Amino acid sequence: TRTLDDLARQSGRYFGSAVDNPELADTEYADLLGREFGSTTPGNAMKWYATEPQRGVFDFTAGDEIVDYARANGLKLRGHTLLWHSQLPDWLSSGTWTKDELRSILKNHITHVVKHYRGKVFAWDVANEIMNEDGTYRENIFYKTIGPGYIADALRWARAADPKVKLYLNDYNVDGLGAKSDAYYALIKQLKADRVPIDGFGLQGHLALQYGLPGGIKENLQRFADLGVDVAFTELDIRMILPADEAKLAQQADWYGQVTSACLAVKRCVGITVWGYSDRHSWIPAVFEGQGAALPWDENLQRKPAYDAIRAAL
Ligand code: XIL
Repeated sequence: TRTLDDLARQSGRYFGSAVDNPELADTEYADLLGREFGSTTPGNAMKWYATEPQRGVFDFTAGDEIVDYARANGLKLRGHTLLWHSQLPDWLSSGTWTKDELRSILKNHITHVVKHYRGKVFAWDVANEIMNEDGTYRENIFYKTIGPGYIADALRWARAADPKVKLYLNDYNVDGLGAKSDAYYALIKQLKADRVPIDGFGLQGHLALQYGLPGGIKENLQRFADLGVDVAFTELDIRMILPADEAKLAQQADWYGQVTSACLAVKRCVGITVWGYSDRHSWIPAVFEGQGAALPWDENLQRKPAYDAIRAAL
């Protein structure tokens, strides 16, 4: 029987799952991921705290572990992420930097990491979560010190380090139409007009049943595609308030199906990645109290209704 990735491939897409390094020791989990999926994303291994734990001292151990796992299992690999306000090393977030210093720190980081993974990742989330909900720029350390130009800088430095890799912006709460996705639409349009390299827009897709399904997902994907960039769901999960019950699992399945269908309806929607595939390993319970059961496989690696809904939609 065919896997989710086999089905996605029929339309030229991939179906992926994130993986975090400790999960590789769970061989039942890692083996199933390797069989069922066609792409993976490191959950943490390529973040700044992991790759440059001291200024100018790079550590690719964890990231390389994921590269080796992906290669051994025939998985494509998404790089995540070069720049984010969260999970920065202490030396960086607790330092005080001039604009020139921080620009050179950012350039050095991007150059080293992108060069190291050149030919190993097919895409990079160059900048992650750079907008607020109201569509203004998030006041992260880069914005505060460098100004909004840090985004174009980062994209250009990434391109200089790897001429082929797909360069993405990535965020949450941008799956449907709204102020935050409008801001990305305007930004990407401007970057294109300025000839700044930008290849894709990643919709994280961290959804929650209690908040409702965002409106206009397909229209939103299509408008970015029409700007001339690829789009992808990069971190899909659909959480619920625990305990799970039959009705919630049915609604979750319906949403997974709808998100998958929206991607398939848009030619430039290149793939879907779930943020882990089973409730056995998920970031949700640790971060959203009382919530979970967000993934298409349960704690025992048994398929949930969501799995069948994704299959039906692919
Ligand atoms: C999460 C990881 O899954 C956790 O292990 C970690 O503790 C925190 O970060 N958006 C992102 C991801 O872009 O990098 C986050 O990953 C989840 C939210």
